[in-house]
This record gives sequence, C-alpha cells and structure tokens, in this order.
Amino acid sequence: TAQAPDILSPEFAANPYPAYRAMRESAPLIWHEPTQSWIISRYADVERVFKDKEAQFTTDNYNWQIEPVHGKTILQLSGREHAVRRALVAPAFRGSDLQAKFLPVIESNSRELIDQFRATGSADLVGDYATRFPVNVIADMLGLDKADHARFHGWYTAVIAFLGNLSGDPEVAAAGERTRVEFAEYMIPIIQARRENLGDDLLSTLCAAEVDGVRMSDEDIKAFCSLLLAAGGETTDKAIASIFANLLTHPEQLAAVREDRSLIPRAFAETLRFTPPVHMIMRQSAVDVEVSGGTIPAGATVTCLIGAANRDEQRYKDPDRFDLFRDDLTATTAFSAAADHLAFALGRHFCVGALLAKAEVETGVNQLLDAMPDLRLADGFDPVEQGVFTRGPQSLPVRFTPAAS
Ligand code: HEM
Repeated sequence: TAQAPDILSPEFAANPYPAYRAMRESAPLIWHEPTQSWIISRYADVERVFKDKEAQFTTDNYNWQIEPVHGKTILQLSGREHAVRRALVAPAFRGSDLQAKFLPVIESNSRELIDQFRATGSADLVGDYATRFPVNVIADMLGLDKADHARFHGWYTAVIAFLGNLSGDPEVAAAGERTRVEFAEYMIPIIQARRENLGDDLLSTLCAAEVDGVRMSDEDIKAFCSLLLAAGGETTDKAIASIFANLLTHPEQLAAVREDRSLIPRAFAETLRFTPPVHMIMRQSAVDVEVSGGTIPAGATVTCLIGAANRDEQRYKDPDRFDLFRDDLTATTAFSAAADHLAFALGRHFCVGALLAKAEVETGVNQLLDAMPDLRLADGFDPVEQGVFTRGPQSLPVRFTPAAS
C-alpha cells in the first residue's frame, strides 16, 4: 500500500510538489498518522469537499485549530448562523466601501513603504514590503491608532506562528494563547468606545452592521479582527511575495505585465494557482464519505491539499509551468477566481477578502513597477519557498536604479 509523505519532514517542506504528484497519481486518499487526518490531493476531490453544503463536511476542525488563538470566528460557524455572519461582514469588503473608503488606505500604505526604499536602489520585497503592507492596511481599515501598529504586528507574528505550528511546539502554542488574551484586552475597550462614537472605519461598520435583527457582540467583532490578522494579513503577504517571485523569475512575463497592466489580474490568478499562499486547509467529515475509491469515516479530519489540487494535470495543461497566458485561466479582466483555482477555497467559506486582496496586489504591483523601471532580483539570487501550511518566499532581494529625489 502507498505511504503518505511525511508532511512534517524537511524534504517535504523544501519541495512538496513531487509528493503532491505521487499522491494525486497513486494515493489520492491516504491516512496521515502524524496529523491524524485523511489527505486528499486531486482537484475534483478538494473542489467537492469545499462545495459540500455541510451534509458531508463541516468546519468543526476549526474549534481546535483556531479557537485557542482567535475565539469563535466566522470560520467555525455553520448553517444559518454562518449565512447571517457573512451578510454582516461581507459588504465592507466589496463595492462602494472597498472603492471609496479603503482604496485610498491601500494606496497610501503601499506608497509609504515604497518611499522608505525607493531612493536606495535595493530592497527585500518580502521583509521591507510584503510582510508589512497588508497588516498595515488592516490596522488602518479598522481605524486603529498608528502608534499601536507595532503591537498589532507583534500579535500578527504570534498568530501566524500559532497557526503554522503543525508540530505542536508548546512555547508557540502558549504564545498564541497569550495573544488571544492581550488582543482582547486591547480590542474590546476600543470596540466599546467605537460603539459610542461611530466613524467611517471598518470597526464602525462592523459595530453598526445589522441583518435580520442580528448584530455582532464585542466578542464576535474582536474574534473577526483577530482572524483578519491571519486571513487578511499572512495570505496577502505571501501572495505579493509570490507574484513578484514568479514574475522576476520569468522576465518575459514581467516585461509583458509592465507594458500592459491589464495583465495583472491574470498574473495574480496564475500566482494563486501555481503558488497558493495557503497550501492546505482542513475539514471534518460528518458521515462516512466515498472519495476517490476509498472511504473517509464519519468524524475524521480531512486535509485538503490546495497546493496539490492547483497543479492537477487532469485540470490544467502543463501544471508545473507558471504561465499567466495559459488558456485554462478564465481571469481576463473580471475577477473570476472561483473558476480558476482553489486558493480562495469555494462554497460557503469562499474567501470574504478576495476583492480586497486583489486590490492590494494590483496596487502593489502597479506602484512598485512605476517606482522601479528596471526592477530585478539581486545577482545570483534564486527565490526559495518556505512553509508547509502557508507557503511563499521568505526573502526577495531586488535591485533597481534609485529614484532621483
Ligand atoms: C476565507 C485564502 C485574503 C478574509 C479564506 C479561505 C481561504 C482564503 C483558502 C477559506 C478557508 C476555509 O474554507 O477553511 C485567502 C488568500 C488570500 C486571502 C489566498 C490572499 C491572496 C483575505 C483578505 C481578507 C480575508 C485580504 C480580509 C478581509 C477571509 C475571511 C474568511 C476567508 C474572513 C472566512 C470566510 C468564511 O468563513 O465565510 N481565505 N484569503 N482573506 N478569508 Fe481569505
């Protein structure tokens, strides 16, 4: 019988793609002892699990995966409770709020970071830009004090370490749980004050939101803000790092995007397919389910390998090639992630922030290309992806002609 790859081993972390292929081909449903879960890797199987309307698969796994650090978030909710919560939070991340209120926040935060290095001729696009930009945007969208941004970054780091702690390091776990307490001590008084004095920011929108007579409690809003650190911060951070890694290592595609900026949505969609920020998410089976010729028993944890599904040769031609012009992407000008890849998941938990992420990436790519007409990787540098649960380059040293000041 086929053996599951050890997804906690250094070899897998260095390059999971051969193991992904082997699983898709000969072990599309396989038990993984260290994580006590069933791993699935084919596009059709992962798509089916995401699209399931909770008859077969639930998100109960998040009760132990994220609750210790975030409290009860939208990801743990199901059925009508989830639908109402979605309706309460989703409008803030699309349409007029996104365009009018938050686009200026996105643009100014990106510019502020670029201004710190544009005169120097060199930068690390991960450390100096990608790891800061989306978290700063969230803090500003929420209307938090600029003086608190450093603490917000500290919590961000602790939260993503907690969520990526697949091997169960007790110190990382304890730091995550402390963060939950500190974050609540910080946020709850701010939420209460905001209720008394509503403004134009995201926190005020969440305080005022009402659907079918339901409103969010202070604790609900705090948990949502905490989730945004990981869901809206780390993911977009990795997407920005990866889109630049992909373009800088494919100079002809970088040149095409520089020339025709309407290709950015394609480059973003192909980046999310080829190098998704989130490589795996889990679900819990509610009943016995047949998948790819085997049975997942009721009550089991299922690891859905987005990183493997997005390179399924049954779904994409030449899947291991980064090609923003590939004809199996439908993202032309409209945003059609749901049809292109599984990086934002699908179905009822489909990423609430997909349009916000797209706006951040478009702004970032446009501003960086404008500021740096000859942007290139530092001599001899080859980007290295890191991470198993979430994945992306950890550094991206670049060179460019300094902007005249
Ligand atoms: C859900 C990926 C950006 C907020 C999700 C899920 C994925 C994902 C895979 C589904 C999780 C599951 O079904 O278990 C991404 C990626 C992003 C990104 C790859 C960037 C490229 C954002 C941003 C926000 C955000 C910027 C900020 C608002 C959320 C929320 C959910 C979610 C709140 C939960 C939705 C629900 O449970 O109904 N995201 N995300 N994400 N995302 Fe994102």
